Amino acid sequence: MIEHQHWHPVAAAEAIGTQPVAARLLGDDLVLWRDATGAAHAWPDRCPHRGAKLSLGRVDGGRLECPYHGWQFEASGRCVHVPAVPAFTPPATHCVRTFAVREAYGLVWVRLADGAHDLPAFTAEGDARLRKLNCGPYTVETSAPRLVENFLDMAHFAFVHEGWLGQRGASAIDDYRVDETPTGLRATQCKAWQPQSNLHSTAPAQVEYTYEVNAPYTAILTKIPDPGSVALPDWRESIALFLCPVDTERTVAWFRLAVADFDSPDQKLRDFQDTIFRQDQPVLESQRPKRLPVDLRAELHSPADRASSAYRRYLSRLDITFGVTR
Ligand code: FES
Ligand code: FE
Repeated sequence: MIEHQHWHPVAAAEAIGTQPVAARLLGDDLVLWRDATGAAHAWPDRCPHRGAKLSLGRVDGGRLECPYHGWQFEASGRCVHVPAVPAFTPPATHCVRTFAVREAYGLVWVRLADGAHDLPAFTAEGDARLRKLNCGPYTVETSAPRLVENFLDMAHFAFVHEGWLGQRGASAIDDYRVDETPTGLRATQCKAWQPQSNLHSTAPAQVEYTYEVNAPYTAILTKIPDPGSVALPDWRESIALFLCPVDTERTVAWFRLAVADFDSPDQKLRDFQDTIFRQDQPVLESQRPKRLPVDLRAELHSPADRASSAYRRYLSRLDITFGVTR
């Protein structure tokens, strides 16, 4: 599967402490754990001895110990101790598969097969004027591509987020631009009339959005409201949607916020995102099929949907199959 060659977030970095944690990615069970140096590891969650879940074991002296017979595996994946036969030196073939792991954006990322792709870029991350904060995880009973498409979709604001990101009397979506980029697509000149576009809105405002898709299951928006409609000066924000495609029809989502607000408590910023996301969730989970049809003839489209159509073409171009129908 081509998806194996991309990086995917599997857990919050802080969720992996001193004991192993179970995760799931692209239909496979993983165990995540940290060795004595603090480095994170991702392996199949299956002991090569008798198939027990390694995530039920424990970390001891920088080694992962299986819950069943106590075999211990060092960070390289090699088994170095078989308690039932203490004098036995396991051969190099006594080992687990290991996957590439990176930590970025407060998340642990895993790549299941070698590939040329880099982690998705989030340019706001390096902007010291913006505070970074993760919201989630949100477990959603639908495919990752349905979530990405929802994130790119402005035409639902007036209905799903009425009184917040839109209002019924102002549902028209002006023309906007969509361009292909080397890693995906970008939509620019997107405008929305929003009663309460962020935590600090003091008045309804025209908000200008830019959207970017730069990996199959990652999208980023940047929004800048009319000055004067926000209590904080120079308000702007970027939000990355980072998705773990757990199963074809189940997804774990995080939002990474980069906002010009260093004062509000974390919980207040998270509450705003939670409110918005809980409005999306029931509609998202109601969509059928749950997998995104990438054949453009399978659903109907309007000119307001050109970002989602471009996203479907992009998934086709990349030969993405997980979470889509053809
Ligand atoms: Fe893991 Fe036996 S099943 S040690
Ligand atoms: Fe929404």
